[in-house]
Amino acid sequence: MASNFRAPFDPVWLSLREPVDHRSRPAALLPLLESACRIHQWSKVMDLGSGTGSNLRYLGSKLPGSQDWTLVDHDADLLNHPSSVEAAERVRSVHWVQGDLVDQGLTVVAQAHLVTGSALLDLVSREWLERLVKACRSAGCAAHFALTYDGEIRWFAGVGDGSNGDPDVDPDDELVRQAVNAHQRGDKGFGPALGPTAGLVAKALFQTAGYRTWLLPSPWRLHTEDSRLAQVLVNDWEKAALDMNDVDHAHRIQAWADRRRGTIDRGVFSLNVGHQDLLALLADPSPGTLPRKERKCIPSP
Ligand SMILES: C[S@@+](CC[C@H](N)C(=O)[O-])C[C@H]1O[C@@H](n2cnc3c(N)ncnc32)[C@H](O)[C@@H]1O
Repeated sequence: MASNFRAPFDPVWLSLREPVDHRSRPAALLPLLESACRIHQWSKVMDLGSGTGSNLRYLGSKLPGSQDWTLVDHDADLLNHPSSVEAAERVRSVHWVQGDLVDQGLTVVAQAHLVTGSALLDLVSREWLERLVKACRSAGCAAHFALTYDGEIRWFAGVGDGSNGDPDVDPDDELVRQAVNAHQRGDKGFGPALGPTAGLVAKALFQTAGYRTWLLPSPWRLHTEDSRLAQVLVNDWEKAALDMNDVDHAHRIQAWADRRRGTIDRGVFSLNVGHQDLLALLADPSPGTLPRKERKCIPSP
């Protein structure tokens, strides 16, 4: 989930979420990506909305061969953050570009073999995403976008893995979840954000452009050891829900947040926050245009 209640993004928030992001990514996408990289000898990776470089720190050690990364973000403080310098050995070069994705960011796509991003797509508009897909297709590059929030927020009793525990339902969980999801659709600088619909919309747009796509769940499963992150989420969800509701609901929302802070403080909880990872590959990754009707494309699953 791209917490969008702080602009610019807080490096503390990004560092809190980084270990959870990394363990939540579906391993099943890696062999597909790795094999495409090997076959086509890709080296040029563009990371859009890079923040302090979390995506580089995850993927850099997993992609084969020597890699030259370009990280684009409009926030100079995040690009200069001390954690930015850590990268895997096989990363040959890292080029940090301060730039706005809306105006300049898409131009770097023309140089890419692989365009990637994490916790970005739910911030963007459909119009921007269409431009991104077009830029990727023109460059003939692959796309991999991780950790796009999908709208699910579910609490479970106990410390199970969140997939089999008993649901822990508060009467106002749904009121807050709906408000948070509506808040996610607000403008984050790219026009009206796709929010929780972004993963599915991106999959459809890449498919239409001739890509084979995989969209896999990458849910955060938070437990006692993630209490700080969970507390920040509840505080942010409270603010978002208050923003989206009239004063009549304010007491209910604040009481919900107090109860959920209590759930976390008691130390035995499971909280699932749904995300999705998208991989989009071309059968023939050479520069091209959107497929004409007669063009043969690999069917998407
Ligand atoms: C949720 S953070 C994710 C950061 C990083 N990818 C990660 O996974 O930790 C979203 C990032 O997008 C950047 N961003 C948002 N809007 C942008 C824009 N219009 N141009 C460039 N970067 C932008 C923010 O500065 C922030 O670093």
